[in-house]
Amino acid sequence: MNNITTFNFSMGKEQRNKLNEHNSFVVWFTGLSGSGKSTLANMVEKLLFEQKVRTFVLDGDSLRKGLNKDLEFSLKEREENLRIAAEVAKILVSAGSVVLASFISPREKNRELVKEIIGKENFMDIFVNTPLEICEKRDVKGLYKKARAGEIKNFTGIDSPYEKPINPVIEINTEKEDLENAAKRIVKLLQEKLELK
Ligand code: ADX
Repeated sequence: MNNITTFNFSMGKEQRNKLNEHNSFVVWFTGLSGSGKSTLANMVEKLLFEQKVRTFVLDGDSLRKGLNKDLEFSLKEREENLRIAAEVAKILVSAGSVVLASFISPREKNRELVKEIIGKENFMDIFVNTPLEICEKRDVKGLYKKARAGEIKNFTGIDSPYEKPINPVIEINTEKEDLENAAKRIVKLLQEKLELK
């Protein structure tokens, strides 16, 4: 960008990670609406918090109420929503946090972009694999019903695509594994990444 120079600040991620006694990191949960992403992120956050880890949950619904409230659900606007979410996650990593990000992130190219912004060394993707039939049957927010009735357009899984991740670090099959167990499995894997004392 023209006319922008960056000041060389003395304190960075390294200093903050040292103070916190753990590395900062992003765990990115992808899956359909109602798949259990935020519930899982919440469980992982609680477990990490108990271990005195500095955490932060970023999720689609809350970001879209504030920072991204001008964005809708076309594929282009989703891309912008996710680009901004990834930039926020990147700032939080620099601030020393372990970020639990819960976004549908429906396309492979969205997830590639997010990973590129955050940096692959700070990033792990988790596929919360709950089949559409189950998400729709649960319909916690009543949105599938509205989408089927044509009251919501471009709804993921109904008239907007969801591409399953090709090679996620962890896949949670919520039909076979309970969320508590899945949360523990994620925390175990994170233990190494965070170099928790
Ligand atoms: S993303 O596609 O851009 O990653 P994001 O995770 O931020 O989506 O937001 C998804 C949430 O917005 C859903 O959980 C749901 O509550 C709500 N929502 C409203 N309209 C739609 C829609 N057309 N498709 C999917 N989710 C929607």
